[in-house]
Amino acid sequence: MPKRRLKDLRFLVTGASSGIGFEIARQLLQRNCRLIVTARRLQNLERLLQFAISEDQIHMVAGDITDAAHRSVLMEKSVEHFDGLDGLINNAGVSGLGRFEDSSPDVLRRVMEVNFFSPVELIRIALPILRKGTKPLLVNISSVLGHRAVPEKSEYCASKFALHGFSDALRAELGNDVSLLLVSPSTTKSDLFDNAVENNSHREWKSENAMTAEAVARKTLQAMTTGKHEIILTLGAKGLVLMDRLAPTLTNKVIQRFG
Ligand SMILES: NC(=O)c1ccc[n+]([C@@H]2O[C@H](COP(=O)([O-])OP(=O)(O)OC[C@H]3O[C@@H](n4cnc5c(N)ncnc54)[C@H](OP(=O)(O)O)[C@@H]3O)[C@@H](O)[C@H]2O)c1
Repeated sequence: MPKRRLKDLRFLVTGASSGIGFEIARQLLQRNCRLIVTARRLQNLERLLQFAISEDQIHMVAGDITDAAHRSVLMEKSVEHFDGLDGLINNAGVSGLGRFEDSSPDVLRRVMEVNFFSPVELIRIALPILRKGTKPLLVNISSVLGHRAVPEKSEYCASKFALHGFSDALRAELGNDVSLLLVSPSTTKSDLFDNAVENNSHREWKSENAMTAEAVARKTLQAMTTGKHEIILTLGAKGLVLMDRLAPTLTNKVIQRFG
């Protein structure tokens, strides 16, 4: 994947109203990038305005990413405001918490819609526009749980495994024309657990001692600049993925015991 300077590039960032997406958008503004940002909470998106150098640097388009009409509007606005795009950052995501047997088909559908079908369909309509851009780039915010699954997050893990598999296949198809970066954070301080589609879990899900969204965003921008195709953000997560490859039976036992 080629190295790139981020200055003046045009990006669409999904899920930019909080957490990792907000931080990615904020740091891209500091690098003089031009942004289309989206999420459902317009008031939160508007907080990004204070970090813009000029009013024309950022455009907010509020809506639900699972709505195909909204995704089309995002493409129209990118062309209208910036005459195209150089990058798409698929960050919007939701989780479901609790055992699969206590969950419902609706939860599975919702998690897959937000975390898998929406980013993939956004990529489908963005590719013709991106191909005309400067060093075009797709960034998919996945998770370490897209490499190794854990209990009580079956729908979430399934969605991130799907995004991981799709990203590997698409990267190979696109070759040098459009780059694809897969980002796999570990637990990060954000509203993700509080905003779960459903929480049937008896466990307390905390993110206090986790990475900050600011650090995840910083490492993501670094990887975009240096031309990496995949990053796993913590040493613990790298160790888990390696252990799962080398000793899957032992890893299964450890995960079953400690979750
Ligand atoms: N936090 C973690 O521990 C962690 C770890 C690994 C990976 N990740 C991944 O990082 C990404 C960002 O999550 P986060 O931790 O920053 O959580 P977050 O603060 O809850 O952010 C989620 C973002 O997604 C947006 N979103 C959710 N559903 C949407 C929908 N239907 N339509 C449009 N936007 C929607 C939310 O905006 P609105 O509610 O305003 O629509 C929000 O901006 C996700 O893909 C997540 O899976 C997080």
